[in-house]
Parts: sequence; C-alpha cells; structure tokens
Amino acid sequence: MQQRKLGGSGIATPPIIFGGNVFGWTLDKAASFRILDKLVDVGLTCIDTADVYSAWAPGNQGGESEAIIGDWLAARGNRAKVTILTKVGMQMGPRDADGNGPKHAVGLSPRWIAQGVEDSLRRLRTDSIDLYQAHKDDPETPLADSLGAFGDLIKAGKVRAIGASNYSAARLGEALAVSAQHGLPRYQTLQPLYNMMDRKVFEAELGPLCQREGIGVINYYALASGFLSGKYRSEADFGKSKRGGGMAKYLTPRGLAVLDALDAVAKEMSATPAQVALAWLLAKPAVTAPIASATTEAQVDDLVKAATLTLPADAVATLDGASAE
Ligand SMILES: NC(=O)c1ccc[n+]([C@@H]2O[C@H](COP(=O)([O-])OP(=O)(O)OC[C@H]3O[C@@H](n4cnc5c(N)ncnc54)[C@H](OP(=O)(O)O)[C@@H]3O)[C@@H](O)[C@H]2O)c1
Repeated sequence: MQQRKLGGSGIATPPIIFGGNVFGWTLDKAASFRILDKLVDVGLTCIDTADVYSAWAPGNQGGESEAIIGDWLAARGNRAKVTILTKVGMQMGPRDADGNGPKHAVGLSPRWIAQGVEDSLRRLRTDSIDLYQAHKDDPETPLADSLGAFGDLIKAGKVRAIGASNYSAARLGEALAVSAQHGLPRYQTLQPLYNMMDRKVFEAELGPLCQREGIGVINYYALASGFLSGKYRSEADFGKSKRGGGMAKYLTPRGLAVLDALDAVAKEMSATPAQVALAWLLAKPAVTAPIASATTEAQVDDLVKAATLTLPADAVATLDGASAE
C-alpha cells in the first residue's frame, strides 16, 4: 500500500487512517483486539485516538480507547509497527487548587498539555506519541504558550510531531504564523470534518490553506458515521447500528441523491458505496488520508480496498455534482 506523508512531520501513513473512537464504545475490548490484529494484518497501521474517547458511551469517563490500544500494544509487543495519533484539549481538566482559575489547567494550557501527555502515554503504554493533536482551538490560551508546551514535549522525545483539529482557517493561519515568528514547532496536520455530506467548511478555506502551507489533511467522519455505506435509506434502518439515531440529519433529498450516485459509481467499478466515498476523498488533492473506523472485519476489508481504488475523473465529477452543497 502506497504511503502518504503527514505534512512535513516526517511521518508516513497508509492512505486510510483507522479511527479509534470505536474502542470501548461500539467495540468491547475483545472485539477491539480482533480489529486491531486485523489492521496490522492488512497494513492499516496508523491509528487515531484521543484522551476523551470514548467518554460519551454509558459508563465511560474517557481514556477507554487509549487504554485498549495500550493493552493491545503491550500484549502484542508491536509498538514499532504502529503509528499512534492522539489528542489533547477537548476535555476540561481539574481546576487549579492554587486559585489561579481553571484556564491554567484546561484546554491547551501548558499545564494541561504537560499533564495530558503523561496520562495518554501511561494509558497507551508507550514512551512516545507519533502525532499529538490539539483537539480543538482554545481561544483562552495564547497560541505561543500552547505551541511552546508542545515544543517541550518534542524536545523531551515524548511526541514526534504536532497537529491541529477543528481549527478555523483564520486560527490555523495564525498558529502557523506564531510558530514561524517564535521559532516554535508548527502544526503539521489538520484534522477537520470532511466527507461527501459535509463539504462546505473544508472546501471554502481550510483545504486551500492546507495545500498552500503543506499541511497534511486527515479528515474525520470520512463515511459520515456510516451513512455513506448506504445502509441507512429510511428511518426504519436507524436500528442497524448504535450510530443509527444520528443519521436523520443526512436522510434528506440531497443525502439520498448522494447515495444514488455512490450506488451508480460502485456498480460501475465493482466496488461498494463505502469504498467509493473514501476513494472520492482520496481523489481530492487537499486530502492526505481520511480517518474512518469499522466495527467488523468485513468493514475493514472495505477500508483496505478503498485505499487502492482510483476513481476515473468522470466518476469524481458525478459524485461532486450529486453532493454539491
Ligand atoms: N477530531 C475530531 O473532533 C473528531 C470527531 C469525530 C471523529 N474523529 C475521528 O474520526 C474517526 C472516524 O469517525 P467515525 O468512526 O465516527 O466515523 P466514520 O468513519 O464516518 O464511520 C465509521 C462507522 O461507519 C460504520 N461503517 C464503516 N464501514 C462500513 C461499511 N463498509 N458498511 C457499513 N457500515 C460501515 C461503522 O459503524 P457501525 O458498524 O457501528 O454502524 C463505523 O464505525 C474517529 O474514530 C476519530 O478517530 C475525530
């Protein structure tokens, strides 16, 4: 499988990155281990997670995904074979005991980054994270402070490179300028929402900025949480997955037109709609490697096939037209 470069980080990735929010959520520990083993077998060895995954699942508090990955790495002894991407800054941390106020130990404050990395390294049972990402912008903390804290982690060998997620184009541009002005490490990647159903925000400004700046784009919800697999065609299908309840927003005339176009291209190419939706992303010059997850080995097979599926220009044009916002 041809590898792609994550911006200027020096890190390479397969064309599809595996999304680790399923570990400890829609997959229990044993099922997670089976999927992780399969990922190594098929060469999808870049895995994205976050300190907060998967806090939203009943009974969870966050950290479950990293802990499952860490236990699996320890059990298999294969840390060197896997590229680990994680994130900090979504979770609100504990408040300061010294009365300085919460902003000193939350979001992307230096103290919270320093604490968050230790917690992630412990759960992941490793001594180094390949790509450490700011999960969302923190307007309360000066960019130079966060970037300085990330720089300290790189110097200490705890993190190889840094990335941003959910930043606006304006703030990402500002962060890059601050890095250059202060001689600090720069965000090498951006993790934005981008898929055939959610195009506008990325295509308007973020994509062009990332291309100009050489920032690697690793977009999330590449399958629109499963909608682009085509398994939700009516409300009666929502019960097919724990994710089903979230599909109502996509089940619109535009959504159904997108599924029709995916069906047509999939038939022509002897592929599946999920493969075609990912191949459409891979055909976009601004995209480095979409992030998608899977809960079965058959779904992982779809991800593998997508990684090597090249769509002809007329198929891309058909899909562009059907999904235009
Ligand atoms: N930075 C951020 O703020 C942010 C936010 C969200 C996500 N992310 C990242 O993006 C990753 C991917 O997000 P996601 O998993 O929510 O969305 P996704 O990749 O769009 O959807 C994946 C889900 O769709 C279903 N699916 C996958 N392949 C399928 C197939 N071939 N046929 C039928 N169903 C299929 C599976 O769920 P079921 O089997 O359960 O239906 C799978 O878990 C996350 O793990 C995370 O790493 C980042």
